Amino acid sequence: MTSAEEFLRSYHDARPDAASELAGRGRVTGDGRTVYEVFADRVTAAKAVLDLGCGDGALLAELGSRGVPKLAGVDLSPGQLASAGRRPELAEADLRPGRAQELPFEDGEFDTVVSFMALMLMTDVEQVVAEAARVLAPGGTLAIGIGGGGREAMEIFLKVARPLFAVVPEERRVPAAGDPRTRTREGLDELLTSAGFEPVEWDRMVVDFGGTPDEVWQTCHDSYYQMAGLDDTHRKGLRTAFTVATRNLVTPEGRLPASACIEVAVTRLR
Ligand SMILES: C[S@@+](CC[C@H](N)C(=O)[O-])C[C@H]1O[C@@H](n2cnc3c(N)ncnc32)[C@H](O)[C@@H]1O
Repeated sequence: MTSAEEFLRSYHDARPDAASELAGRGRVTGDGRTVYEVFADRVTAAKAVLDLGCGDGALLAELGSRGVPKLAGVDLSPGQLASAGRRPELAEADLRPGRAQELPFEDGEFDTVVSFMALMLMTDVEQVVAEAARVLAPGGTLAIGIGGGGREAMEIFLKVARPLFAVVPEERRVPAAGDPRTRTREGLDELLTSAGFEPVEWDRMVVDFGGTPDEVWQTCHDSYYQMAGLDDTHRKGLRTAFTVATRNLVTPEGRLPASACIEVAVTRLR
């Protein structure tokens, strides 16, 4: 396991429900449902689904509630998998601790592989994509959701936070995770087509995380692993800077607009 993977495992083991609770605070703009509900619409014909970086199983549970008969997930964090296993929809699911780079599944076992907000954290991404292709049956579907950046207050948060993240002392710095190619449409197109997938169909979800300034601060705070490296002084300083920088955005009703984009890629194995 790399140092970034060790960080992710212990971060999520300590907060098993954090990722899905955070995602569940948002509603997809123009739709009103959660990201998991909207993303699950991309794989409606699925009969056997593997989720890479499944976390505490929120997406798998959504698919289970829609009657998908075979569900499997892999994640670095056994703590999250234990939470996933307690979901009634996942009582029969095959949930395995481990790396998406070394999948403990047979060739062609799945008709669908999904990965939501996880691929962009993975190293050796060629290996991950090759493993996804190996466990998919020919013609199988791969659907991926990756972070596409913040808007409004979430964009401002990152502008204010980035200089602080850059000066965290080496010993407290959160290890950089992932491969930059997975964070752009062009990079991911190239990775997927080189691994034998058809040209990618792209789509974008805009997720509304607006709320009171306190709520939006908390959502921004919880959205970045790098926050774990800040000491109390820097955290308080960031909060003050964020409050000042977003003051003019607050509506007369006291609402601070904030949203995040998720780029959704769907492709099929040739
Ligand atoms: C932001 S969380 C998203 C979790 C879940 N997909 C969701 O949307 O609720 C990212 C997840 O990817 C997992 N992850 C990161 N790198 C991984 C790898 N190489 N293999 C398996 N899981 C990985 C982490 O442990 C974490 O649970």
